[in-house]
Amino acid sequence: MERQFPGGKRLRLVLGDITRIPADAIVNAANSHLCGGGGVDGAIHRAGGPSLMRELDQIRARSGGCPTGGAVATSAGNLPARFVFHAVGPVYRDGGRREADLLAACHRTCLQMAEERDLRVVTFPAISTGVYGYPVAQAAPIALAAARAHLEREDTRVREIVFVLFDQCTFDAFARAL
Ligand code: APR
Repeated sequence: MERQFPGGKRLRLVLGDITRIPADAIVNAANSHLCGGGGVDGAIHRAGGPSLMRELDQIRARSGGCPTGGAVATSAGNLPARFVFHAVGPVYRDGGRREADLLAACHRTCLQMAEERDLRVVTFPAISTGVYGYPVAQAAPIALAAARAHLEREDTRVREIVFVLFDQCTFDAFARAL
């Protein structure tokens, strides 16, 4: 499923495994300690290999981690990409703790990092909707709005933003929001 934007830019939804889909940058759903985990984080580290964690160890040593709403970049190891952007989404509690702002912010941060590196294709998982408990029906429109706003910018060099959704339920929620 996809939406077209002026200039041939595209927003796409794909059902699948984000570690298998070529991109310039693959976004990871990480935690603020940058210490790895399960879910998509585990899958990205397994497929990417140990160089990702070595680079994160260096970033952690320098800066102590990454705040919620932010992201840090590493190379992509064995993944079919140039970079992994390790984004930190919010833990969902009750919706009254700036979760929506923070979820939008981590998408915007990654897209800005793509611009700084002159990248064309960025893939995102459904950040925060697994272990972090964000209801996917609420997360999907926030993630898509951030992507859409970026593709509508005239000065963007990003051509394609792809949400790679791991299960049918998540895919359907994004499809409805799109
Ligand atoms: N490709 C795409 N999506 C995937 C994959 C994969 N290979 N594996 C899991 N997912 C999906 C999940 O099904 C869910 O829809 O990614 C979405 C995000 O779920 P989580 O990985 O649990 O991420 P999040 O909710 O942001 O929680 C982050 O979990 O793994 C830890 O270190 C991570 O502490 C952090 C927390």
